[in-house]
Formats: sequence, C-alpha cells, structure tokens
Amino acid sequence: MRRPLIAGNWKMHNTGTEAKAFGREFRTAIKDVDGVDVLLCPSFPALGALATTLEGTAVRLGAQNVHAEPEGAFTGEVSAAMLTDAGCTYVIVGHSERRQLMGETDDIVNGKVKAAVAGGLHPVVCVGENIEQRRAGETEAFVTGQVRAALADVAADAVAEAVIAYEPIWAIGTGETATPEEAEAVAGVVRKTVADLFGDDVAEKVRIQYGGSVNADNIASFMAQPNIDGALVGGASLDADSFARIVKNTEATTQ
Ligand code: PGA
Repeated sequence: MRRPLIAGNWKMHNTGTEAKAFGREFRTAIKDVDGVDVLLCPSFPALGALATTLEGTAVRLGAQNVHAEPEGAFTGEVSAAMLTDAGCTYVIVGHSERRQLMGETDDIVNGKVKAAVAGGLHPVVCVGENIEQRRAGETEAFVTGQVRAALADVAADAVAEAVIAYEPIWAIGTGETATPEEAEAVAGVVRKTVADLFGDDVAEKVRIQYGGSVNADNIASFMAQPNIDGALVGGASLDADSFARIVKNTEATTQ
C-alpha cells in the first residue's frame, strides 16, 4: 500500500518571513494528521526559515531545482549536497515551467534526477503534455518518452522511492483540471512504463501524483483513482489553511 504524498510547490512565492508565518499556522492545522506524507518545496532562501518553523513535525522539505554537477563554477546554481544540508529530502525536477521557460531538455532533467539520487534526495519528476499534444492524441506517447528519458540509468531502488508527478501543462495554474479519469489513464501509463523499465515491484512502490489546479474541493476525486498517490499543488499550497485542508481531505480518503 502506497502512502499518499501531498506536495506543495511554492514556485517563486513566499519570502522566508512569509514561510515562517505559514509554518506556524500550518503545523497547528495538521497536528492530528498521520496518514499522509506532506512535502513543502519553497524557494531556496526560504528553506532555512521553513525548516526551523516546522521542526519536530513530520513535514518533509524539498527544493524546486538542483544542478546536475556536485559542485563547481556554476554561478547561481545549487547542488544536491547543499540541499540535503539545508534539510531537504526531496527535490522537484523537470517542472514544465523549467522545461518551457528555462530550456530544460529531457537530457538535462535526467542529469538532475541522477544528481539528486546520488546526493541522497528523492526526485519528484514532473511530466505532462501541452494542449496541442493532448488534442492530437499524443499524450500517452509523449509522457512515456519523458518518463523513460528522465529515469534513464537510474537505479531501480532509487526509482522505487522517487515520485513522478503527472502535470498536464494546460491544467497548471489555469483552474482547469484534467478529469480524474483522464489523470488516472495517464498515471496508469506512467506506472506501466516504470514496470517495463524496472519491474513490477518498483512500479508498485513508486508514487505517482497528479498536479494541475488541485484544491481542497477536488483532491478527493483524484485520490479515488487507483494509480494516483497524491498531488503536486501550486497555487492552493500558498495558504496554510487551504493546503492543510487538502492534506486533511486526502487523509479522509484513506480511512
Ligand atoms: P497549480 O500548479 O496547482 O497552481 O496548478 C501545480 C504545479 O505547477 O505544480
């Protein structure tokens, strides 16, 4: 049985000061939750403040990006070792905003996944099609290719503990979600791809999230799908009360 994982991707929102206020409210709001893993991915500068404010809770900390090299002359970049030292256990890799706006190719994403794993971080690998690809019926082939490329040469035991977030680009920040059935169909394809590459045991363990306009009102419909093990939440993770309600509504679906 896979434990649900609800992750918040703050993108370029929330200063350290704002993260502290969030953390104080959030830790109280979720104090009775124990059936769901919770992950927060703030900006780099807010990691320390959030780690301090959430100390003693089970909330995990993650970053939104990592460099493929362990260290060196890469101005503005951050290594896996820096992230673990800052308290991270997860890192988002290959978010569509980075693929589209920062030119991250499948190869770059694969390099980052490998660096994350080598550095002891669990990658949250983002995949998902754009609206033209969906209309052209290319979703499954495209997402399968992204999964294959991102996980090339990654050890099976690391994949078992990784997370794959299926995020249709047209559903991100738009208020429009995939239907739970559409999301389930692609999540099933992702799990099958992992099974083909790494075997059934790994595919049974890897957690697959849906992302794209998830909120407290629609989370239960996604959690009801057999291949969806949680959500990667953008906008609705910025407010402590809203994110706590998503976590609690997820826990309610597991009971
Ligand atoms: P959203 O973002 O929940 O605001 O749609 C999701 C994401 O980009 O991870």
